[in-house]
Amino acid sequence: MALKEQLLRKIFARQARVAVVGLGYVGLPLAVTFGEAGFEVVGIDIDADKVRHINEGRSYIEDVEDAKVGRLAQDGRLSASADYAVLTACDVVSICVPTPLGKTRAPDISFIVRAAETIAQYLHPGMLVALESTTFPGTTTEIILPRCTRAAGGLTVGQDFFLCFSPERVDPGRKDWTTKNTPKVMGGVTPACQEVAAALYGAAIDCVVQVSSPEAAEMTKLLENTFRAVNIGLANEVLLICDKLGLNAWEVIEAAATKPFGFMKFLPGPGLGGHCIPVDPQYLSWKMRTLGYTARFIELASDVNRSMPWYWVRKVQDALNEVGKPIRGSTILVIGVAYKRDVSDLREAPALDIISLLHDKGAHITYHDLHVPAFEHVGLALESAPDLGMALEAADCVLIAADHSGYDWEWIHSASRLMVDTRATLKPGALSLARSEGGADRRSGVVF
Ligand SMILES: NC(=O)c1ccc[n+]([C@@H]2O[C@H](COP(=O)([O-])OP(=O)(O)OC[C@H]3O[C@@H](n4cnc5c(N)ncnc54)[C@H](O)[C@@H]3O)[C@@H](O)[C@H]2O)c1
Repeated sequence: MALKEQLLRKIFARQARVAVVGLGYVGLPLAVTFGEAGFEVVGIDIDADKVRHINEGRSYIEDVEDAKVGRLAQDGRLSASADYAVLTACDVVSICVPTPLGKTRAPDISFIVRAAETIAQYLHPGMLVALESTTFPGTTTEIILPRCTRAAGGLTVGQDFFLCFSPERVDPGRKDWTTKNTPKVMGGVTPACQEVAAALYGAAIDCVVQVSSPEAAEMTKLLENTFRAVNIGLANEVLLICDKLGLNAWEVIEAAATKPFGFMKFLPGPGLGGHCIPVDPQYLSWKMRTLGYTARFIELASDVNRSMPWYWVRKVQDALNEVGKPIRGSTILVIGVAYKRDVSDLREAPALDIISLLHDKGAHITYHDLHVPAFEHVGLALESAPDLGMALEAADCVLIAADHSGYDWEWIHSASRLMVDTRATLKPGALSLARSEGGADRRSGVVF
């Protein structure tokens, strides 16, 4: 029987053993999804702590319940290893390693390259390799394919082994759309690769969207995240415009969003954060520069989004100025340092840029985050304030950077002497509150 048919049979019978390389925000939910679909899954990670957690049946990612990992580990359907040699007993390997930017904001695909080169040492006939990390069009066929064929010594793609790209679309912190019920886009290198990969994902994920090539799948993911980055950039620019016009941007955007068609709501904020939205469009922009084309929307949106921390620091300065205080020596309490609501992820978090700028200006920084107990940044070792009420009392100005749903915003606003709210937590627009000497609140004007 041809290798393709053998692999298809194993997939349909849930006898294919699946390996997931990189057990992070993407890899762990994917491994659990395959495990829950009945496959035996082994996760491979260079992080010994993550490997230990999984083998002890514990999760380290908010979106993945301990109980699920525990159950799968107990049933023998989920295990982890730091050793790629486990691949010799696997039929499928999915690559979910990071794709960050380098110092010059060019793509750093070294994690993908390293993972592909190690996988290639264990590639054997009848295996499916799926790349899930977000990357520029061409990575699967130009970077992964030659490494697989070279190392495997004469294996032919589409005949001896199978290769596809299928981007991960998970939105951390989200409960309604998960790895399982979010449609999975996928493009195979050959029709046989496509067939095998469609069968695998179809066995674990509710809906598979097949496109004609890995490049089309790679570009689909970059379009999605570029769409968000550009629209958030527009919302941020609307904020800058409204500020100059003396209008409340949130009020205007919420009003525009009442139109039942032709408008999609995006909100301004402290800037872009996370491993995806600020990063992925740069992969496309870089790729286009190699082809002599400037991706203008991406560059413009990036300029606006990256300027937002300066805008908010100016707002802190203005707010303090209103009460006759300089930034230097003032205590600024930052509430919510994670890059977005209800996550603990600090990667590219705009709060970090805001903290750096305020620290440079001589502010004393304190913070509170329901999901981030401690972190280090710009030489500061910070711990979330043990008592939010006391921290509010001690702060000359409060800056809200992430609007976690566990906070009582009414109370936080009323307990703040001075407030700069980058998330408009009291919709449609948050106001600057200044408490008078006598303790009664008085509104001192719109901050943004
Ligand atoms: N986080 C998201 O919201 C999200 C959403 C969609 C797509 N993506 C994309 O998915 C990919 C992974 O992102 P993530 O957020 O899961 O990253 P992550 O940093 O949370 O996890 C990556 C994991 O890979 C491991 N790793 C690194 N190099 C390795 C190697 N050579 N071998 C084995 N393990 C290795 C790391 O230890 C880490 O546990 C990225 O390309 C990202 O752009 C992320």
